[in-house]
Amino acid sequence: LLPEPFGVPLPVPPVARPVRGEQGADVYAVEQREGRIEILPGLKTTVWGYDGIFPGPTFSAHSGRRTVLEVRNSLTVPTVTHLHGGVTPPESDGYPTDLLLPDRCSPGQAHRIHGGMAGAHEGRTAVGHRTYEYPLPQRAATLWYHDHRMDFSAPQVWRGLAGFFLIRDEEEARLPLPGGERDIPLMLCDRSFEEDGSFRYPAHSHDSFPDGVLGDVQLVNGAPWPVLEVSAVRYRFRFLNASNARRYRLRLEAGGGRRGRFVQIGSDGGLLAAPQPLASVDLAPGERCDTVIDFAAFPVGSRITLRNTAAQGGMREVMRFHVVRRERKDDSRVPTRLAASFDKLMPSAAMPVRVFDFRRTHTADDRQMWTINGRPFSTDTVLASPRLGSVERWRFSSDFHHPVHIHLARFQVVARGGRPPAAADAGWKDTVDVRPYEVVEALVRFAGYKGRYMLHCHNLEHEDMAMMANFQVT
Ligand code: C2O
Ligand code: CU
Repeated sequence: LLPEPFGVPLPVPPVARPVRGEQGADVYAVEQREGRIEILPGLKTTVWGYDGIFPGPTFSAHSGRRTVLEVRNSLTVPTVTHLHGGVTPPESDGYPTDLLLPDRCSPGQAHRIHGGMAGAHEGRTAVGHRTYEYPLPQRAATLWYHDHRMDFSAPQVWRGLAGFFLIRDEEEARLPLPGGERDIPLMLCDRSFEEDGSFRYPAHSHDSFPDGVLGDVQLVNGAPWPVLEVSAVRYRFRFLNASNARRYRLRLEAGGGRRGRFVQIGSDGGLLAAPQPLASVDLAPGERCDTVIDFAAFPVGSRITLRNTAAQGGMREVMRFHVVRRERKDDSRVPTRLAASFDKLMPSAAMPVRVFDFRRTHTADDRQMWTINGRPFSTDTVLASPRLGSVERWRFSSDFHHPVHIHLARFQVVARGGRPPAAADAGWKDTVDVRPYEVVEALVRFAGYKGRYMLHCHNLEHEDMAMMANFQVT
């Protein structure tokens, strides 16, 4: 039943076009609706997609220029849209109880949905439409948007509510990096399917899947084990791990034991100060890695396979690059200095220290609960109140694997397990993988807005099991 690997061409999600430009802003209209699309060859899958597609359209935005998303919910369930990595005002951040109810909802139904949801009493609920405002006071970076509905992020993202949101700026545009058709976002996620092609998501994900839900089909930009024909030149690939729970350790393998190499140029929060070569790229759910791959060393006809060495069986393969032609020349390059705007943070004793312990506990009736500092999520508990403009030292510890994501703020990892961080931790981050019995220390800068935001585990099943906490920027 599973498709042959490397038989489907890699799709690239369409770039959204604004419906109008207002003074200093681009306004987009997006509709969340069902779509019937071909993911497995010959079968149709019903997706819940932004504009009915999966991945959703890519938004291409400019640093400092306001982007407005007018979202209409034509699905049958409430939604919440979060811009992951966005420096976003609190009312547009996609807080899990700020529901957007379906447009077909009558006020009575709206009341019932709302009233029936634990902890939703203080949410900012809208019916039918909601406008998200993104002023984007931040550097060029690869962001993404996805559903964040309280208790239902995992199944709703699984059904398709996710897409890319790219921010560009002048500093990046001046660099001779590969661009245009050679700048390709790659959304990695796994899914399972029923025989009729519909998505399969377990009914009892909470108690039966402590590690989160894994699929048995590897998708890239929504296509199973796709292939991309490339020229023997440099390409920029922006990797995103949009999986609910799967981790990746990506490697490039050509035949005969030959290895390809990644040059990392950026991470969650944009360009690094300088590029770094990597033999493998580690990505936990929510993380991004911006890379350049140079195919010049491979003869025409080469097939280079992107593998996930953290997986088993057929899931060890991700996609393939097929070198089909040589170009006369390649005008792109990776300069030795990338972002002059990159400011490295140094720990200082004056910075407030806070500790967040991510742990599984059991309730009296032996259900699993995922807690931060001993508490499951509640909308009215605030675990930290950092000051706007400050930098704090946050330490994350856990007895398990948890990708920790902070809204609004960006951070730099300064220690992992008591040692200097690994290459994979470089740059400005908004998500970091905390491994079992390891303490990760990060310097977190709170810039942009005051208000209530959250940090949480980005394993979406853990997130839905309340592994989230609030902080309040004051
Ligand atoms: Cu990508 Cu709070 O999420
Ligand atoms: Cu977790």
